Amino acid sequence: MSERGKQRLQKILARAGYGSRRACEVLILQGHVRVNGQVVTELGSQADPAHDTIEVDGISVRLPQTHTYILLHKPAGVVTTRHDPHAKRTVMHLLEGVEAAVFPVGRLDTDTTGVLLLTDDGELAFRLTHPRYGVPKTYLVEVRGKVDEQAVRQLRDGVELEDGVSAPAQVQHTGYHPQRQTTTLRMTIHEGRKRQVKRMCEAVGHRVVRLHRERFGPLTLRNLPPGAWRHLTPREVTALRRAVGLASYACGC
Ligand code: URA
Repeated sequence: MSERGKQRLQKILARAGYGSRRACEVLILQGHVRVNGQVVTELGSQADPAHDTIEVDGISVRLPQTHTYILLHKPAGVVTTRHDPHAKRTVMHLLEGVEAAVFPVGRLDTDTTGVLLLTDDGELAFRLTHPRYGVPKTYLVEVRGKVDEQAVRQLRDGVELEDGVSAPAQVQHTGYHPQRQTTTLRMTIHEGRKRQVKRMCEAVGHRVVRLHRERFGPLTLRNLPPGAWRHLTPREVTALRRAVGLASYACGC
């Protein structure tokens, strides 16, 4: 039996879905479990699921894959990319201490701040960015000028963009700031086209001066300061996976 990554056998079996730890202890005591071909009936026994062959009644035990899920409060001035030899600062430079090969899910423009998810879970990332799943993304948007009711209605209904009409958005007018001569809006979109919020606002005559993503599906920053990251909680991972029709599972977070 390998010494690396050893865990109690009943814990491994419980993670693999063979029931509660107590139920797994009974499986072990009754001689149903083999490690590297040998029946193990001692309850203190350990194994390394990455290197040992564990079987229950002759069937190999498969553990669910574990993935890493990181939420970054993206600050302005960093590029959303995994690798760009020309970019001075990318989001990857902010992930000190993260060993997994995570990548950003979708992108925020260099001057956009807020919630950015990074993961090595390819299936989840694919679904979160696929228009079919329509994952809502909420932005706090500051635009030049006074936004009137008609512009808000246009944004809600969908505006003509060069790559087609935008899908209806939820738009809340949160105030005009006379000193700055800007208006703030809270916009929720369900698509993820390139520079979509900026282009939508431009289409109704207002240039975006500040853009902050408050929410991505069920994820919010909570109190995470700009430039900092945290692992998602298991509850957040489950909510995210459920939002795109995937089962929840124990993650490495
Ligand atoms: N829409 C934009 O225009 N820019 C972003 O960074 C995100 C959404």
